[in-house]
Amino acid sequence: MMSITNFRSAESGAHAVTSKVTFQTLQEKKQAGRPITALTAYDYSTARLVDEAGVDMLLVGDSLAMVVMGYDSTLPVTMEEMLHHTRAVRRAVKHGIVVADMPFGSYHVSVAEGVANAARFVKEAGAEAVKVEGGAARCELVERLTDAEIPVVCHLGLTPQAVHRMGGYKVQGKTLAAAEELARDARMLEAAGAVAIVLEGMPREVAAIITSQLHIPTIGIGAGPDCDGQILVFHDLVNLSFSRPARFVRQYGDAAALFRTAIEGYIHDVEERSFPNESESYHLSKEVTDRLKAPDITDALKAPVAASKAHLIRKA
Ligand code: KIV
Repeated sequence: MMSITNFRSAESGAHAVTSKVTFQTLQEKKQAGRPITALTAYDYSTARLVDEAGVDMLLVGDSLAMVVMGYDSTLPVTMEEMLHHTRAVRRAVKHGIVVADMPFGSYHVSVAEGVANAARFVKEAGAEAVKVEGGAARCELVERLTDAEIPVVCHLGLTPQAVHRMGGYKVQGKTLAAAEELARDARMLEAAGAVAIVLEGMPREVAAIITSQLHIPTIGIGAGPDCDGQILVFHDLVNLSFSRPARFVRQYGDAAALFRTAIEGYIHDVEERSFPNESESYHLSKEVTDRLKAPDITDALKAPVAASKAHLIRKA
């Protein structure tokens, strides 16, 4: 169906921030001690807002399984669904780095399948890097992806795809042995070629040690303030996730309240017939309006329609 809604043009909007962020930029930020900003994004409109605000990295996170699709874990989201959302984000972003999260099962069967799936994110959806969860077990994959010119962001600590192994969404690295293992895994992933590492759900002391040991940037979520950067799930930031926020979430706005007020206002105005008003309606010219009043036209408009022809009139 054709619509006369004013769709945005590709060039409309602010997009004041023009320089393109690269992994070299993130590296320079780490060296200069300047914090890296990252947020998740899953669709065109929010990705555009996030990018226009100047965020360094936009992660098309598999968290979309929960906050966009309503699943109770990240496990069910598929390659095709992740590709679909990555394409939408790609179309919006000019400034930040677009990283696509590889969904559960897309890199666990074999390294070859992982590389093939990662290449789809770059080739078919315009991602600049992929993210994989896990420690030393991912080293071979990280090496092969790096060989294939696909930058890899790794993800250590509370890794949601391992929810069943972890026995829930629990802070990791709390014992000396667990902390040492995380730090060793981080060093191995860096040596394998990772360009950055997300550190999730771990004591700030552990994240600080890992950050100081690595040359590549760390991006924390629930890992304290000493990481080289921070990431949050967009829906947590603006109160759209319909769940009790975790300790590490800071809400910077209340989109749920904003949307509710708008939706309730719309229902109210439609029900009391104040929407749409005169200026929100299209009008015939005076000439056509006058013609409509002529008896021959009035009669024609009232003429009964044969049932078999009704669909033609509806189409017109
Ligand atoms: O999927 C996601 O949103 C993530 C971030 C929490 C890092 O992996």
